[in-house]
Amino acid sequence: MNKDKIRILVIDDDVAILDCIRLSLQSLGPYQVTVCENPREALELLHTNDFATVISDVNMPGLSGLDVLAAVVKYDDKIPVVLITGNTESEIMRKAIHLGVYEFLKKPFEMSDLVVTVKQAVETHRLKVQNEQYQNHLESLVQQRTIELFAAKSKLEKSYLNTIHTMVNAMEVNDIYTRGHSERVTAIAMRLGKLLGLNIDELRQLRIGALLHDLGKIGIISNVLNKEQRLTESEYDIIKQHPIIGAKIIDPIGLPDTISKIIVQHHEWANGEGYPYGITLPDIHPLARIVSVADSFDAMTSQRSYRPSREFASAAEEVYANLNRQFDPVVGKVFYENQRQILSVINDHQALKDLLQEAF
Ligand SMILES: [Fe+2]
Repeated sequence: MNKDKIRILVIDDDVAILDCIRLSLQSLGPYQVTVCENPREALELLHTNDFATVISDVNMPGLSGLDVLAAVVKYDDKIPVVLITGNTESEIMRKAIHLGVYEFLKKPFEMSDLVVTVKQAVETHRLKVQNEQYQNHLESLVQQRTIELFAAKSKLEKSYLNTIHTMVNAMEVNDIYTRGHSERVTAIAMRLGKLLGLNIDELRQLRIGALLHDLGKIGIISNVLNKEQRLTESEYDIIKQHPIIGAKIIDPIGLPDTISKIIVQHHEWANGEGYPYGITLPDIHPLARIVSVADSFDAMTSQRSYRPSREFASAAEEVYANLNRQFDPVVGKVFYENQRQILSVINDHQALKDLLQEAF
């Protein structure tokens, strides 16, 4: 059997016609012709041979040409089917067109007509196969590029987060009282955010916003930040500028607006007594409310230059006592009720690291 030849399947219960078609096609073109009298056996051959075209009689015992057509189309709709029909079979022709027949050869037909029809059918098959291969290649190319794009995006995101981390660490390195504060606030906020049912995008923004919430302290002179005595009113006014300074620093990076809101609003209170703008709960962004609870809690439980640290439980009670006054009641309550679970991450350095590196 010659592998370079184009394979044609011919089905007819008339052996004389089969021989005639086989001899004509094989003598006039690069065809390897398989003939079969039994339509059922012929359909079996479809699975083991790569036929480029099927030619079938319509009226045969067992299966009709329409059955053959339907089976071939179902198996592989790229294989053109040529039906040999009588002149009076218009209903059959209508059904055949509906099923997807490639062409009809009306009896009696000239062998030269058959050869032309087969040549066109084979070319149609070749183009369909080529098109399918091209489509598959395109699909795998798109898939491949998508995978590469995601990998690049996640690499970029990771390096971006590392940069933020480095900025925050640089900011906190000179302040022994707030060292690690931003990381702990981020870890608490993330656990709280998950309990509150935030989606992946919101958690992403919460993480960046929480890490950067005190970035503006870079712009506050250190003798005010680290002052051991109580701050004067004007010094406190300077401190109150850090949320606005932080948002200004990140402004040129083009981060989502939510992150800027977290930074600007993390010291706002539910009742409007916070700073810098004194807005009330409805105007405070939901993610800023989460960072507010996490930030205040960590500030209470960390030692500061002007006061010693408080116990976790006592600080959590303080949060609960200030629902609706300083904190969002829902956020504060979820924090209070899940404090053990949320705070377990603080003393577990590996868990803290994992949570900050977690990919979304
Ligand atoms: Fe702050």
